[in-house]
Amino acid sequence: MDINKISRQPAMTARIKRLNELGQGHIFDYFARLTEAEQAHLLQQVAGLDLDLLHLQITMAKSGSVDKPKPKLLLPAPVKTITEWQKEQSEVIADGENALRQGLVAVVTVAGGQGTRLGFVAPKGTFSITPLREKSLFQVFAEKIRFLNQKYQTSIPWFIMTSPINDAETQDFFAENQYFGLASGQVHFFIQSTIPALDNQARLILDRPDHIFGNPNGHGGTVKALWDNGCLKYMKAAGIRYVFYFQVDNALVRLCDPLFLGYHIRLQAEMSSKVVRKRNASEKVGIICQIDHKTGVVEYSDLDPALAEQTDDQNNLTFWAGSIAIHWINVDFLIAENEQGFKLPWHLAHKVIPVLQADGRTVLPAEPNGVKFESFIFDALPDARKNFTMEVAREEEFSPLKNKDGSDSIDSVIEDQYRLARRWLVQAGLLTAQEAEAIKAEISPLTIAGAEDLKGLDPARISKVGENWYIE
Ligand code: UTP
Repeated sequence: MDINKISRQPAMTARIKRLNELGQGHIFDYFARLTEAEQAHLLQQVAGLDLDLLHLQITMAKSGSVDKPKPKLLLPAPVKTITEWQKEQSEVIADGENALRQGLVAVVTVAGGQGTRLGFVAPKGTFSITPLREKSLFQVFAEKIRFLNQKYQTSIPWFIMTSPINDAETQDFFAENQYFGLASGQVHFFIQSTIPALDNQARLILDRPDHIFGNPNGHGGTVKALWDNGCLKYMKAAGIRYVFYFQVDNALVRLCDPLFLGYHIRLQAEMSSKVVRKRNASEKVGIICQIDHKTGVVEYSDLDPALAEQTDDQNNLTFWAGSIAIHWINVDFLIAENEQGFKLPWHLAHKVIPVLQADGRTVLPAEPNGVKFESFIFDALPDARKNFTMEVAREEEFSPLKNKDGSDSIDSVIEDQYRLARRWLVQAGLLTAQEAEAIKAEISPLTIAGAEDLKGLDPARISKVGENWYIE
């Protein structure tokens, strides 16, 4: 049956007309050859398309630019440095700990990405990342939450953002592993939306005759997905005020850091961030700075090389504050970000996208054949009335699993875990730096969250795994 001949609801007829006006009539090229179920499937996607957004996407794809004004003035952001907070921490930490004890906190992990660079087909959170016990990233985070539950006599709800592509597999993984010792009611999954990609002629892409290709809408999609799935309403009703946001690939994340929360509360910030010092001017990391007098992130690709290399009179980089995608975000702020509709800007990335050929085969071209659209969580920073930014030591809190080899890879994340274990063993006075060099240890997040928890360690808590140590 031809698309123009089937009887339809007037609303669908109007949509098809608008799609034609937008130059998207080709998505019905195969319609007449589809089964009834396939036709219904395609029409269901058409009904779900946001046509105003599609119009905007087409304009952006044609002009090749984002819908975000170009910054005029870039200045470094005020950051609480490690040296500064080390002097004040004993007073501030109590505020964060109280909020944890009072149940004002939820954890949000974004795990909807596709992990393309890692080349691991399953959801990234299921990747076995600890060196000796081979715990998955999800298990590591679950154990960190259990540690906090025990320490603060609370039950921190954990919200995990998945995408339509990996939701079922992620949920199955948790069920198969009995939620890693958490109560199943403590773990909430919510699915982010997808957004259609466009080809190099700004046209929707069919990857199957009845399917329009879309990708997860970026980690900024968290803001919308928390709202669309009723999570913010749930949090509000449960008296939760602060969301600890982090990405599924950071194996070293210091979950719900009470010091960071203490500052966030004291300064009445709405969205706060952690940063590390950039390794060098060319490190590919977004920088937290003041963009036209508002806190925000400039992506490494958008930072003028002259500014990236600029140094002060002590030869330190001016724009040194690398964002590690760890935030406290207020529930009320997230609600306000949605009340007038989702408004984070869209970023374009030229990518290789599967596409249906005239002969019926779906191919993955060798060269980028279109653009994907994504929103980024850090674009919410300038909307906050107040922000707080805090420097932390990279070796203590940040080791992302991005690539198969090289930097931010499986090997580097394993090495970073060993390095951190050595550091804590030395800080706790259990080994000298020289002794520690020879040790490869894995530390259980269930019982140890920092060097202080290792002080006076009972040797019975160390078990040998070959030559190496597992400490719990
Ligand atoms: P990245 O942008 O590094 O993407 O996501 P990725 O999926 O891990 O890997 P590549 O780029 O395909 O190789 C940073 C974090 O944001 C989440 C990811 O799961 C990761 O925790 N994310 C990203 C989402 O939750 N949804 C998205 O649409 C994109």
